[in-house]
Amino acid sequence: MRTFQQVSGLRVYLRGIRAEGKTIGFVPTMGALHDGHLSLMRRARNENDLVIASIFVNPTQFGAGEDFEKYPRDLNKDLQMTSLVGVDAIFSPSLEEVYPPTHRTFVEVEGIGETLEGKRRPGHFRGVATVVAKLLNMVQPDSAYFGQKDYQQFLVIERMARDLNLPMSIIMAPTMRESDGLAMSSRNAYLSPEQRKAATILHEVLLDAQRRVDEGETSAACLRSELEAKLAREPLAVPDYVAIGDPDTLDPLTTLEGRAAVVALAVCFGTTRLIDNAVIAPPGVTVPKMRVSKPQ
Ligand code: PAF
Repeated sequence: MRTFQQVSGLRVYLRGIRAEGKTIGFVPTMGALHDGHLSLMRRARNENDLVIASIFVNPTQFGAGEDFEKYPRDLNKDLQMTSLVGVDAIFSPSLEEVYPPTHRTFVEVEGIGETLEGKRRPGHFRGVATVVAKLLNMVQPDSAYFGQKDYQQFLVIERMARDLNLPMSIIMAPTMRESDGLAMSSRNAYLSPEQRKAATILHEVLLDAQRRVDEGETSAACLRSELEAKLAREPLAVPDYVAIGDPDTLDPLTTLEGRAAVVALAVCFGTTRLIDNAVIAPPGVTVPKMRVSKPQ
């Protein structure tokens, strides 16, 4: 497995790969890798000739008082894990390589980037869109892979890629879960054993949401209050939001009659804030497992 810290070296390497007519799959990460990341890498491996992953803890997507400093970092462990799933190259740039002192350009995605997480974490999606635009330009892959756990992040990146005419496919792959249903996340490491146990409530709420629409519930307001009531029964869970929205725009829905909806949750356990989501639909409406946005 090749490793690169500088864009210049990476570009020379990738130019050679492209000249051989090979396709490039790219998985951007902030490290602290878990099976969720590895599943994206495996998918990229199946669909491309070459797989590259980046490891960069991006400061511009962390707000003041968030966990940038304490975000888990273990490059050696990450390198071991990526080599096991057949990643060909790792790009792990320094802060100065990505944001030299002269850096002044940021990417802002209006609308989809301003609701839910965008409202609670001002500047977060500006940081995400900026670093992902930069990484996509550095790597210039054929396809880039993101996990459904960060559903809104995917929609922001998809919008950004289309609006800036970036010439690659943006692919969303399903959330990977622990055996008790908790969505895999690097931030799960912050949970105490009690909080870790309580955090399974997120997945339970999402399963309940699908079960209730299977039983015929179509009112988004009724569904939301049932889900909020369930969360309220877990004393360690402090809900931030329960949103039921359009899967493409996240606009709040009033009814689920004949249509799919995304249920998005943000819940705090002590100082750890977890998010999760599921796309749910009434019987007869199919929900695609993957979302692939191809360049126009
Ligand atoms: O999902 C993440 O890990 C990050 O937000 C990303 C996409 C790597 C950008 O820093």
